[in-house]
Amino acid sequence: MEIQLWREILSPYEQAVTELVEKFQHLSLEHRERGLYSPIEQVTGRVKSITSILEKMKRKKIPFEEMEEQVEDIAGIRIICQFVEDIQRVSDLIAGRSDMEIKCIKDYIAHQKESGYRSYHLVIYYHVETLNGPKKIQAEIQIRTMAMNFWATIEHSLQYKYKTNIPPHVKERLANAAQAIIALDSEMSSVRNEIMNAQNSSLMQRNLVMDILQNIENLYQKSNRREVEKIQDEFYRIYASNDLQQLKRFHQQLDIIAEGYCAQAVTSEGWDQNL
Ligand code: GTP
Ligand code: MG
Repeated sequence: MEIQLWREILSPYEQAVTELVEKFQHLSLEHRERGLYSPIEQVTGRVKSITSILEKMKRKKIPFEEMEEQVEDIAGIRIICQFVEDIQRVSDLIAGRSDMEIKCIKDYIAHQKESGYRSYHLVIYYHVETLNGPKKIQAEIQIRTMAMNFWATIEHSLQYKYKTNIPPHVKERLANAAQAIIALDSEMSSVRNEIMNAQNSSLMQRNLVMDILQNIENLYQKSNRREVEKIQDEFYRIYASNDLQQLKRFHQQLDIIAEGYCAQAVTSEGWDQNL
């Protein structure tokens, strides 16, 4: 097969991976901008290599004409979450989107693989716009916790090293490690609320501080310099006190002052409502 043809075949998949990674990263950013805990910790993507595609087609006896239908993971996205509970939330977010259509779900968390592998997989249909018009392609989305990812990464490199014939004593260790991962994820889940609250309040504080500083800067350009200096001193005093409630009140008061000067910061809620 001509190299050029492969490039043509894989090009929409490259595009899909780039777009999907960007979209999931943005979803995570949107949470953070609103001061919300994000169920998405990290997103990566890859296009399957030509040798891996060929190897899979040989292994599964897939004819070339059926490659794009049957090799569901030419475009692959991996979403890493902090907690097991986040996985369902990510899956629900995907189900609710109009630009992704779920073809099937493989729940290797409820039904752990014999190897010990755990992960939640979705195969989706996704449209990319190409020079030849829209093209509907498939992408495999793997959603797993950091702990599950740790296990899968190590096991995958061992599979690679032993070419699927992992020695029994190593297999046993991997099975033990898989059990330990389940225990670790469940321990972490038991402190999820505490961790989420801590992350929420630190995100909220970060957003408040950014907003306040922006407001101060805008006021500095529009109002009395001495007054703004006083406001700034007051901000540093409150900031040093580590009191989130006080910081929230200060933010509201500053908003009112800024409104008076038409110097309100453009917040994460959106651009100036009047535009
Ligand atoms: P592959 O031919 O391996 O892609 O399998 P499949 O198309 O039959 O689908 P399956 O749902 O079994 O696996 C999809 C993907 O999940 C694989 O490509 C791997 O990335 C991952 N995976 C599945 N099983 C294992 C496993 O036992 N160990 C590791 N490390 N990864 C796995
Ligand atoms: Mg695969």
